[in-house]
Amino acid sequence: MERMTDKVVLITGAARGQGRNHAVWLAEEGADIIAVDICAPVEHIAYPMASDKDLALTEQMVRDRGRSIKAFKADIRDEAALRSIVDSAV
Ligand SMILES: NC(=O)c1ccc[n+]([C@@H]2O[C@H](COP(=O)([O-])OP(=O)(O)OC[C@H]3O[C@@H](n4cnc5c(N)ncnc54)[C@H](O)[C@@H]3O)[C@@H](O)[C@H]2O)c1
Repeated sequence: MERMTDKVVLITGAARGQGRNHAVWLAEEGADIIAVDICAPVEHIAYPMASDKDLALTEQMVRDRGRSIKAFKADIRDEAALRSIVDSAV
């Protein structure tokens, strides 16, 4: 327990699935979270991506564990956007 205390973790695809699970588990280990998800359709992918509501639930689940989280809607293929998110959130 608390193996991630005082660390900040960037998680992409954080609104659901593995990304959400990683956010919650790392929060339980003491990390603060920067969560990124596109929350919008992605061209060439037939199934739906996560929603704003999904990302909000990830935020709530991390806060329920007593940790801080900043969530952003962004496309991980946009490196400049990711750099800006990390700079502002940290
Ligand atoms: N190697 C393995 O054994 C293994 C096992 C399971 C899943 N996976 C892979 O891991 C990934 C995650 O799996 P999952 O079950 O959590 O999938 P998922 O579809 O539930 O979640 C993916 C998340 O990524 C977000 N996303 C997609 N494209 C994005 C983009 N360009 N920018 C930002 N966010 C984006 C989606 O909105 C969604 O919330 C998938 O690529 C899956 O194929 C690998």
